[in-house]
Amino acid sequence: MNPTDSIDASLRITVCDSAAEAQVLVADRIAATIVSGGVTGHGAVLGLATGRTPEGVYAELVRRHERRELSFGEVWAFNLDEYWPLPPEHPCSFAAAMRRDLIDRVDLDPAHWWIPDGTCPEERLVEHAAEFEARVVSTGGLDLQLLGIGRNGHVAFNEPGSPEDGRTRRVELQAATREDAAAAFGGLDAVPRSAISMGLGTIASARRLLLVALGSHKAGIVARALTGPVTPEVPASLLRGHPGLEVVLDRAAAAELPARAGVIER
Ligand code: PGA
Repeated sequence: MNPTDSIDASLRITVCDSAAEAQVLVADRIAATIVSGGVTGHGAVLGLATGRTPEGVYAELVRRHERRELSFGEVWAFNLDEYWPLPPEHPCSFAAAMRRDLIDRVDLDPAHWWIPDGTCPEERLVEHAAEFEARVVSTGGLDLQLLGIGRNGHVAFNEPGSPEDGRTRRVELQAATREDAAAAFGGLDAVPRSAISMGLGTIASARRLLLVALGSHKAGIVARALTGPVTPEVPASLLRGHPGLEVVLDRAAAAELPARAGVIER
């Protein structure tokens, strides 16, 4: 950490004692959005994410649903990204993960859930991406977008160098991203080389962003994203100016941030 690096005073950062506490806090934010009915009043529009970070969040939301405290009956949901090509039945697909962790376990209407289609033929990818964007707009836009951060600073599959105004499209995955997925796929060769991902522009169109990072392996990239230069080389840094951004960290992920008055400690 460069000692001159500092955290922008307008950045809303909450540091929780543990990953479990952070996941409950994020579940609280999502539940409040659901209960609010979203800005249209016709049901909240959620942007969902996959990866290890949100797993505990979804488990908490499922618990609340099972206790009859929370209904997804009016919710619309969009997932950030999907490997391409990869069928939704593949256990490593993001579609399968979402079904396992949330969609099949709550009362969300599957017809109100969209995730990019990993089986889309190559010649239809541009059209498919445009349809995805149009659906986001036709629901009234994303009320709350949940985000993780990759160790190279990616958000969704917007790898370093991605354009700030990018929209949903096919993207090529970088080596670090594919290596991080290799164990789950049973080897690097099995990891798809491409994906379909919402762009940074699509993500920034959400009214609120909830960027979540947990664990010491995220501490370095969290510090770069929040206190380093705003640059496409660290895609998450490009979201720093979003007026609806909230960052939720556990203590381990916050470890390399400079101390700042105003960071909410829980
Ligand atoms: P993770 O992935 O939640 O599994 O760490 C985050 C990401 O790569 O966006």
